[in-house]
Amino acid sequence: MKDLFERDEINFSPDNPTFEQVLQANLSRRQILKGGLGLAVVSMFGGGLTACNGDDDSDTPVINFQSVAISTEDKHVVPKGYTGKVLYRWGDPVSNGAEFKYDASNSAAEQSVQAGMHHDGMHYFPIDLLQGGDSSLHGLLAINHEYIEPALLHTTGGYSDDSASYTQEKANKELAAHGVSIIEVKLENNNWSVVRPSKYGRRITMTTAMTLSGPAAGSRLLKTKADSTGKEVFGTLNNCANGFTPWGTYLTCEENFQEYFVIDDKTTLSTETQAIVTRDAVPLASASRLYFWDKHYDRFNVNKEPNEVNRFGWVVEIDPFDSSRKPIKRTALGRCSHENAAYTLTSDNRVVVYMGDDKRFEFIYKFVSRRAYDKNNRAANMAAGTGILDDGDLYVARFDADGSGVWLPLKHGAVNPKDSTKVLDAAAGFNDLADVLVKARTAATLMGATPMDRPEWFTIDAKTGYVYGTLTNNSRRGTTGNAGTDAANPRAVNDMGHIIRWKENGSADATSFKWDIFVLAGNPASSKDNYKGNIKGDIFSCPDGLHCDKDGRLWIQTDMSDTVMLDGEYVAFGNNQMLCANTTTGEIRRFFTGPVGCEVTGITRTPDGKNMFINVQHPGDIPKGLVSKVGSERVKPSNPRATSNWPDFKADGRPRSSTIVITKDDGGIVGT
Ligand code: FEO
Ligand code: CA
Ligand code: CA
Repeated sequence: MKDLFERDEINFSPDNPTFEQVLQANLSRRQILKGGLGLAVVSMFGGGLTACNGDDDSDTPVINFQSVAISTEDKHVVPKGYTGKVLYRWGDPVSNGAEFKYDASNSAAEQSVQAGMHHDGMHYFPIDLLQGGDSSLHGLLAINHEYIEPALLHTTGGYSDDSASYTQEKANKELAAHGVSIIEVKLENNNWSVVRPSKYGRRITMTTAMTLSGPAAGSRLLKTKADSTGKEVFGTLNNCANGFTPWGTYLTCEENFQEYFVIDDKTTLSTETQAIVTRDAVPLASASRLYFWDKHYDRFNVNKEPNEVNRFGWVVEIDPFDSSRKPIKRTALGRCSHENAAYTLTSDNRVVVYMGDDKRFEFIYKFVSRRAYDKNNRAANMAAGTGILDDGDLYVARFDADGSGVWLPLKHGAVNPKDSTKVLDAAAGFNDLADVLVKARTAATLMGATPMDRPEWFTIDAKTGYVYGTLTNNSRRGTTGNAGTDAANPRAVNDMGHIIRWKENGSADATSFKWDIFVLAGNPASSKDNYKGNIKGDIFSCPDGLHCDKDGRLWIQTDMSDTVMLDGEYVAFGNNQMLCANTTTGEIRRFFTGPVGCEVTGITRTPDGKNMFINVQHPGDIPKGLVSKVGSERVKPSNPRATSNWPDFKADGRPRSSTIVITKDDGGIVGT
């Protein structure tokens, strides 16, 4: 998601340690980890990796592809010996619906059964999964459609392109272009394709009926004029990254939900609502914005429907195999700008989910289920109200300077361990657990969580137990009025981003952990110290998507925003890309580069590792470095091909977000 529309909502003013203090703290942590625990540790400022791990060399994952160069071309590039085939583009039918029209004249009804825009997180489910199988030849893909570019979605653009023609039909098409696709995909004759028609092929959009379940369901904060129960809601939006469960359901995460709502007049809202919308940075109606759904639907206006915004910002569980089951928003996992949801298990099969809140100075969360999941009772695992993800404890992370960390419980009545005057009680605005979950960010601040540099994806290395997480960037770290640096977020004006990792002290449900920084992104050739980073291998900036495969390859996808791309320090990185890190040696190689203006995101593989699916999102955005050439900061409906015409390259076409399937020409595992 571009950060063009991100807003400041809150200013923190903790200590601002000097560079020397941070360096000292990290050096001493290195000694602790190196000497005491034998874990692999990365030097933070030493310009490279410190090889001091106790792992056997035979654990080193095989990474043998030839790295690809930085690219500014309008095409996608894979290594020699690999093929990247475009499989599923915005507007392609999910089953046997209408075909895409290149002038973007498909109706809202047609869009509702075609691929949405801006593909993001994604997961491959083997078609025979529920029968105990693991087919790598035939499966279902669940794919998020994060947001839209109205200038490309409509022939004459959206509200800000042409407000007079912003009909309800246009708003409806925008609602329909959001959400999730479920498609059936098959490998036949060495060729992946979407199965059409398919009984599985369907869209979940901003008008799909879904259930709110868990401790906050029915809360006073979730009731609206249209839903006096506080348990039924229409739609999911800004579905950024994702997760999945061991019982074969998909988790889609609602990220920048606030951008779809507006406030006419903050002063007439209740004090509590004012606090919520201020923390969540819901824009004023007069602000510059991308969405104008409030012009046709009152529920997007906070003055008219104060609680509708509280019904977004959740993790949503979807059964990809059964379209008759309503998606379920699992409130036990808390409400924030959810990026993704990565699960692991305790030894007794309770489910632990790691989640990031992608806003500057927001937090990293962990959910621990109360019950073990039942391998023989899928229906019970995913039941509304009594499912595994309805009952458990939510925690938020505090990263201490000595390399230790604490999971702080977000329970009603919890007390800040460092300041007993801070309690999640009625006096602080938390009457019950539902209040804590709806206002999870405020609760986390009160408990002393560490404000991070925009947490994006997390992934678990099953071999080592490390959880890796991307902190994509934070241009405001250390600037006037904002939090200064700390050991876990060590760079002021962190324009390059970094990857952090931690290991629980014991089982996945432990309440403390050890952490370190895996890599600081950047360019060693930069003239600015805080832009150099310590990458060993191919350079990148702004890590976002992250996936550790079962052999220990850490796939890193980048999302430099169009507001910085191909300009200044970012020229060195070219277009957004995907790289592969060896988690044992720390070496990083570039595997993929995308077309102009895109981000690279969404990653999943077939169980045999021979087929990788990734997403190219928003090709055709206008990189800052091309603004002077193109004459506009935003693509115009009159010139949709200003920077990209990928992937179709039709004379009358337009750029389209797409899923790509990558295979090795010799039939081997991707990455080898
Ligand atoms: Fe939608 Fe945080 O990326
Ligand atoms: Ca991002
Ligand atoms: Ca992202």
